[in-house]
Amino acid sequence: MAQITDPIAVFDSGMGGISVLKEMVRLMPEEDFIYFGDSLHAPYGTKTTEEVRRLTIERITDFIENKHAKAIAVACNTATSAAVAILRTMYPDVPLVGVEPAIKPAVFACDNPRVLVMATPVTLKEEKFHNLEALYDDQAEIYPLPCPGLMEFVEQGDLDGDDLDSYLREKITPYLDKNLTGVVLGCTHYPFVKKEIRAIVGPSVEIFDGSFGTARELRRRIETAGLLRADGHKGQVTFLNSSEDPDKIRLSEYLFKRKI
Ligand code: DGL
Repeated sequence: MAQITDPIAVFDSGMGGISVLKEMVRLMPEEDFIYFGDSLHAPYGTKTTEEVRRLTIERITDFIENKHAKAIAVACNTATSAAVAILRTMYPDVPLVGVEPAIKPAVFACDNPRVLVMATPVTLKEEKFHNLEALYDDQAEIYPLPCPGLMEFVEQGDLDGDDLDSYLREKITPYLDKNLTGVVLGCTHYPFVKKEIRAIVGPSVEIFDGSFGTARELRRRIETAGLLRADGHKGQVTFLNSSEDPDKIRLSEYLFKRKI
């Protein structure tokens, strides 16, 4: 039986989910969080769906059954597409949220929307994404852009180098003549390189990510379950990582503090 004082577990293939964690801490400052990055097995976005599903289910099961997490956030688009539906059937009573590309706000932000969706190859090939795209493709031009290799820049702490800039320019430039109205960051690592993306698409293109919506949804679910803390406790964040490299924890703490 979950206790109100138990922590919330936030999971990602690496450090990307810290962009979502930041919003969660802002919205729920009295909660304790455990952040787990699976950097040892990253990237997830170029693995098979089955492999991503196995890794995600294994970790979430451990959080719920052994680490007494009262709620779960799968703060990874890739892991969400591969495993969240199954996890919901395994743990119907646990407040559990995933993330998905924020296409809806990007489509409703303007008339005649033309939206570039940057995400991992797994996210873009999964049925979950095709269903989401189908909801809006009669109202918008949607351009899915798989970005294998991009999360690695963030994992290595390279947030503004020349190689990153060349990578992004090569990916995004072919779409600049589409007069984009929005860019959706469909991978939780990408908000950490938002400034570099902004420099390429220019100031008039709006950039969307799902962090705030996910944090709000998690808060709602925790509250509905009667598990939201309101006792004046000063919430703590504990960073864990499957990699033994101590730099991973240092980088996690840095990214947590860094302004996006
Ligand atoms: N952060 C992850 C996402 O939101 C994926 C990165 C990866 O492991 O490829 O999709």
